[in-house]
Amino acid sequence: MKLRPPSPIGASDYPRIIALWKAAGLSFKPQGRDSREAFERQLAGGTQTAIGVETEEGELVGVVLATHDGRKGWINRLAVHPDYRRQGIARSLITAAEEVLRAQGIEIFAALIEPGNDASVELFLSAGYKDWPGMHYVSKRDREDI
Ligand SMILES: CC(C)(COP(=O)(O)OP(=O)(O)OC[C@H]1O[C@@H](n2cnc3c(N)ncnc32)[C@H](O)[C@@H]1OP(=O)(O)O)[C@@H](O)C(=O)NCCC(=O)NCCS
Repeated sequence: MKLRPPSPIGASDYPRIIALWKAAGLSFKPQGRDSREAFERQLAGGTQTAIGVETEEGELVGVVLATHDGRKGWINRLAVHPDYRRQGIARSLITAAEEVLRAQGIEIFAALIEPGNDASVELFLSAGYKDWPGMHYVSKRDREDI
């Protein structure tokens, strides 16, 4: 199956992105920061870029959200359709996200990986990321579903 190179996708792609996250088994927050309204707001804010990989036929099979907070870049919600894994799609999306972030002046790239997601840890290590064992992720949120 021929694939198109990673390229930016937009708010109109939201339904396809959600369908892909579901197919990939990714945990996301459809009532919170991954709602359509939040997604559109984040894109409009200029600090988030959605990047997708499509087949030649136009099926979306990989997606990532590249965001930054002015200090660091974050690789978020990376997912590849189960039928298209181990072909280098995720790695190409990480590279594309880094390029987008570099163009915005960002030089540090990071990702949060849930415990037990060994595939993702291996992926990021293979992409040159350093693991930080023992690092704690703490967060405080105004609602449980965001
Ligand atoms: C993790 C995920 C994005 C990887 O996508 P992918 O397109 O298959 O990954 P790639 O083909 O680019 O893999 C590149 C390298 O990562 C590592 N890797 C990827 N998947 C792996 C797995 N299941 N087990 C071990 N290593 C893996 C390998 O080193 C691989 O290189 P290789 O195939 O030459 O051995 C995909 O499995 C997925 O969508 N998982 C569910 C959602 C998820 O967990 N997202 C990450 C959230 S942080």
